[in-house]
Parts: sequence; C-alpha cells; structure tokens
Amino acid sequence: MAFDIDLIQKVYAELPGKVAAARKALGRPLTLTEKILYTHLHPENPLQEYQRGGDYVFFQPDRVAMQDATAQMALLQFMMCGREKVAVPSTVHCDHLILAKDGADQDLAVANAENKEVYDFLSTISDKYNIGFWKPGAGIIHQIVLENYAFPGGMMIGTDSHTPNAGGLGMVAIGVGGADAVDVMAGMPWELKQPKVIGVKLTGKLSGWTTPKDVILKVAGILTVKGGTGAIVEYFGEGARSMSCTGKGTICNMGAEIGATTSTFGYDESMSRYLKATDRADVAALADQVAEHLTGDPEVYANPEQYFDRVIEIDLNTLEPHINGPYTPDRAFPISEFAAAVEEFGFPPVLEVGLIGSCTNSSYEDLDRAANIAKDAAAKGLRAKSEFTITPGSEQIRFTVERDGILQAFEDIGGVVLANACGPCIGQWARHTDDPNRANSIITSFNRNFAKRNDGNPQTRGFVASPELVTAMAISGSMKFNPLTDTLVNDKGEEVKLAPPQGYELPPNGFAVEDAGYQAPAEDGSSVVVAVDPASDRLQLLEPFQPIRNEQLQNMRILIKAKGKCTTDHISMAGPWLTYRGHLENISQNCLIGAVNAYNDKTNTVINHLTGEYHPVPESALAYRDNGVGQIVVGEENYGEGSSREHAAMEPRFLGVHAVLVKSFARIHETNLKKQGMLALTFAEPADYDLFRQDDTVSIVDFTSFAPGKQLTIELGHADGTKDTVKVNHTYNAAQIDWVRAGSALNKIREEVVG
Ligand code: F3S
Repeated sequence: MAFDIDLIQKVYAELPGKVAAARKALGRPLTLTEKILYTHLHPENPLQEYQRGGDYVFFQPDRVAMQDATAQMALLQFMMCGREKVAVPSTVHCDHLILAKDGADQDLAVANAENKEVYDFLSTISDKYNIGFWKPGAGIIHQIVLENYAFPGGMMIGTDSHTPNAGGLGMVAIGVGGADAVDVMAGMPWELKQPKVIGVKLTGKLSGWTTPKDVILKVAGILTVKGGTGAIVEYFGEGARSMSCTGKGTICNMGAEIGATTSTFGYDESMSRYLKATDRADVAALADQVAEHLTGDPEVYANPEQYFDRVIEIDLNTLEPHINGPYTPDRAFPISEFAAAVEEFGFPPVLEVGLIGSCTNSSYEDLDRAANIAKDAAAKGLRAKSEFTITPGSEQIRFTVERDGILQAFEDIGGVVLANACGPCIGQWARHTDDPNRANSIITSFNRNFAKRNDGNPQTRGFVASPELVTAMAISGSMKFNPLTDTLVNDKGEEVKLAPPQGYELPPNGFAVEDAGYQAPAEDGSSVVVAVDPASDRLQLLEPFQPIRNEQLQNMRILIKAKGKCTTDHISMAGPWLTYRGHLENISQNCLIGAVNAYNDKTNTVINHLTGEYHPVPESALAYRDNGVGQIVVGEENYGEGSSREHAAMEPRFLGVHAVLVKSFARIHETNLKKQGMLALTFAEPADYDLFRQDDTVSIVDFTSFAPGKQLTIELGHADGTKDTVKVNHTYNAAQIDWVRAGSALNKIREEVVG
C-alpha cells in the first residue's frame, strides 16, 4: 500500500558502506541495534562511538506513523512550518477513537458520526501534505505498519508507545510524542539518548501451548516494568529464528511494558516469508542481498556478555505459558502456578471476559491457532462460558480470517467480533455488565493491564496472556483452569480435554482484502483545503507564536511557584482533556491545574495580582496575558518529567508565560519549551528558589545579550522595596536561541522555507 521501495533501495544501497564505516569507527563488531542506529545518524553528528546511556545523538528516521489521538496536534503544528509536504514518508491511522459496544459495523458507524470533524481534518491534512491516510476501520496503527511499511534495518518513529511492534520485521521503531513527529516530518534532526543494548538469547523451540507472547511475559517478569528503560532489547539465537515474524512483532510490541526504548530481531527466513506474503517480495529480495548487515555480527552473538549491557537467556523448550497481572504486566505467573495464585491472592475466580486481538496479538497465526481451539471445543460440545471478544488488527486480517472460517469458529462458541480498532485496549469499551463496580477478572491478549485501562472499573483485575490461553480460559469460564492439565465438562456431562493449539503461520491461500481502508494523498496537495470548522471545540488551527520581546520580560508576575513533583500530567492533565488535544485554546484550560502552589499548598489556586484574589491557574494566566503582564513559572527538580506531550509546553506559551525557571528539567520537556520559543532556565543556586516571594516582580535584565553558555540575570523586586539578584543557567545553543528569536522552532523553519 504505497510503501516506498525507492527509500528501501536507497537505505540498502548505502548499508554495506555505512556499516563498515561504523564498525571501523567503533573498532569492534556491532550489534544489530548499533548497525541501525549508526546507519541512521544525522549528518550533524560525526561518526564516532556514542556513549550508551550518556550521549544525546541526532538521528534521521526513515518513516513516521501517527495515530488519530496524537496526530491532531502534531499535524496542526506541522502546518506551521511552511513545507509543502512531509520530509519523510508518513502515515495517519484512525484507530483510537472507536468505541467498542455492539460489534464492528454498528460501532464503526457511530464512531464515523461522532468523530467526523476529527477524521475530516486528518483526511484533508494528510491529502494536502502527502501523508498516507488509513480510515477508521482500516485497522490498528502497528498492525498496518507491519503489514505495509516496516522493513528490516529501517528506523522509524511513531506517536504511540507500541510502535516497537515493527521490530518484528527487524526495525528500530520508537514510540514518541507528537513534537518528535513534527521534527522528523519537518526535516529537522531527531534527538535520542544513545540507548543501552540488552541482549536476549533464545534457545530451543516453542511447542504446545507456549507462544511468542510467553517470551515477553517471561522477560517482563525478569526485567520488571522499569528494567528496559533507556535500552533497546535485541533478541537473537536459534529460538528467535524459529519463531514467526508476527510472533516477533508481539514480543517487540510488549517491550514497551518493560520501559524499553524499543526491541528488535535480526533479519531471517520468517521475515522473508512475511514480506512475501504481504505483497513485498521485492523488499525481501533486496533484504536478502544485504542480509549480513541486517543482523548483529556473529562475534557479538558468540560472546554476548562482551557486547551487550546485559544478557538474558531463555530456553523455549522449557518455557511455560504465562499469565501476567493484575494491574501490572510484570507480575508473571507460569500457568502451572496460576490456580494457586488465584487462591492465595484472592483474585476473583470467575473469568468474566476473555478478549483477544489488538495490535499485540492479531496475526493470522494468533487467530488461526485460537480458532482451532474454538473448533476443538465446539466439536467436543463446549462453548465459551465467559464473554469472548475478538479485535482484528486490520481489515486485511479481518477479511482474510473471515474468508478462512476463523471468525465463524469464534462466533460458533459465542465470540463477538469487534471493529478493527483499539477498542477495549484503550478503554473504548462499553462493557456489558450488571454492576460496573464489581470486583472481577478479565484476561486479554493485549499488552497493558493498568487499573481502569480496559473498562474504567478500578475493581477489574486485568491479566494478559496469549490469545490461545485467553481462548481456552474463556471456554472454561474459570481463572483456575489450566488447559495443559485440566479437563472440562461438556453439554453431555462428559469430561473432555482441549487439544494443544495448532495453526498456520501465514494464510495458505494468501492474504486478501476488498477495501483495505487506505486513502493515498493527492498528487499535488497545494489546492487542498484543510477542514477545520471554526466553531469546533475539538480542533483549532494554530496561530504562530510571536517572539518574546525584552520588555515582556520586565516586571513579570509569578503565575505559580510549583512545589515538589510537577510532571507533564500536573502541567497538562490527561483523562477527559484528551478530547481537546487538537484545540490549544480549550486544552489550555487544564494548564498547570495539577501543580501544587508553594505559597498555599493548594492546586489550581493562585493569586492574581490584577485583582488581589485567588483564581484557577488558567484564569489568572489569561488575565495577565490579556493585560500585557509577563509571566514566569517557577518549579523544583525534574520539572516536566513524564510524557513527551508537547501540550505541556504549548499551553503556558499560549497563555502568555514567557519563562520557566526550575531547579532542574526533565530533558524532553526542556526541549519542548525551547521549541515553542520560551525561556527554559535553571537556578545557578537551587536554594535561590526560596527567594521568590508571591508578590515579587521578576525581571530578566540581560535578555538582549542572551547567548550560548552565558548565564542570565534575574532581578526580584520584593513588595517591601528590597531586591534580590539571581543568576540562572540555560542550555540553549545558537540554533535554539534562533528559535526564541523567531518565536518557535517551526517559525524558524518557516522563515527558512518560505523566506
Ligand atoms: Fe491501540 Fe492498544 Fe495497541 S490502544 S495501538 S491496541 S496498545
């Protein structure tokens, strides 16, 4: 579907030379991860060894993918940079906004009506800027990327945390925020801390009830939800080669659950088979020619301890099926120990719902193997005792498995097929229950199982397992069922045992689809008008931010002096505010409402010096802005930690905050503030935080000589007539100071593009 063969040809043509140069520069054999990273270095970085876990490096990814919730602000921003089209191949996927309620067709119709303005916007802006658009119902971003765009040795970013799914096809694919997508689409270098590399050696071969999902459930148990932070996980060994490409995708997908930057596998026969089955025999042929560069060097895999930061070994011959949860994906139980755990920890013993599919587990292999369990059950006089749902990952998968009788097999035991979308995985699930507050158990083949994620009920214990195990458990209706050892009683009162699952890796009759749901962009998008209703409360075109002027930095007021932890959630809350992600003015009503005011220990209650009264933060900010009063935000350590969401920088900027002065920044937020043309400053002496009084005026007295490596000076005018002078640091380089002078990084690009 319009994948870019020219791009892949170019990447592969340059690959041998680039890998050889990187090997020479580092003076040692390379992991696959390093091959991909060093062959995607941005020219701004010299070719030299970068310290893993230390150096920040600029890269040039090959592609960008965006889902509908995050694409809105990313594309609204992209519009500002003045480019006629995106700098790298990019796609938008409408998958997150469809509520699962009554089944695929009905739910899709409702979503199309309710989200029409968002879909129209995404469709027209994609058309205009040469972006591939996947309509609602086409499927889930990561499944579609795997089926159409991922290629071995490539590097991509995606505005969704499970973008690493494309590692199943040998990519380094990293989940990012919208601001990063804007950088890459606008042709700017993209920055990442050079990751560490964790090696996972897989020996043996999967069999019986054990699946690729159990590999990552086991790894999650070993590494925990934080164990992969700042690292790329590279799988290798005979066990890796024996697994299907889509199974590898499942493992990489759930690498997000251990905090990994991404996960990947070396190119092998399974990837070649998958590429050919998904109509990309030409990519497979090209990859075959450079295969040695699409996997780690043999010396690395022979002596992994020498080249990886950490090595884990898993024997697939002895690996048991796992069930992980509740509430956290790293609480791992082998199936043989799970029934006892249900007793010991008091998990509700009735399995109320089993849910299979999602971006994590909806390959042909997953669904065929699960369907064979369903067929075996039906033949033995069983039906699903639990509610049972199936979410296909794409229309191509759905159409193919329907043709092959797989969906029918699920329906025959009581399964309900939902739309090709995220649905229950992201809480878009109108669950049928007589008591939405009851403590209960569900098992999914999805990836995340945090409290409230699926149905909003904190009493729901969500567990994750393979689709095969979920299907078997749903048939039993019991959390204590172990299909490897236990029998079930059928409609005739006989004891029967489910056979271990079997299935095809790829459809024997090939994939098929009538309408994949893809909309190619216009050949010439210059005349396309981007559809945004001026009356919309969900979408709003952006206005370029005006550069900060020196006089605005004199006699500023402190909007809030935040006390303690102030994450991006405190600055721009999620939850119901997600609706307004595409409307800067409306979402700015949540600006800093979660931050604690150091002057009164309250949230969302700050003094407004224009009235002398206390108001919500956004209200005071607006009053200052509209009366020409400059504003500064003061904070403590690691200010802006959490997500990379650019709204946390755009909202204060929109509300007239010019500077943020803290003890230290979370790096991504600091960069986001810089990109929006604001001043991100840190105390030279952290104790000076205490000098800032509620009724001070704050002036940056030497902004006109703002320069790289040079401190700025702040003068505090206290109400009693006294003054304090405070030195502050910054990390702006010359290019970033140009962003401030232009009003924002995008304004600067526009100046360069449009002149
Ligand atoms: Fe969607 Fe859940 Fe995957 S939200 S992208 S199906 S993790």
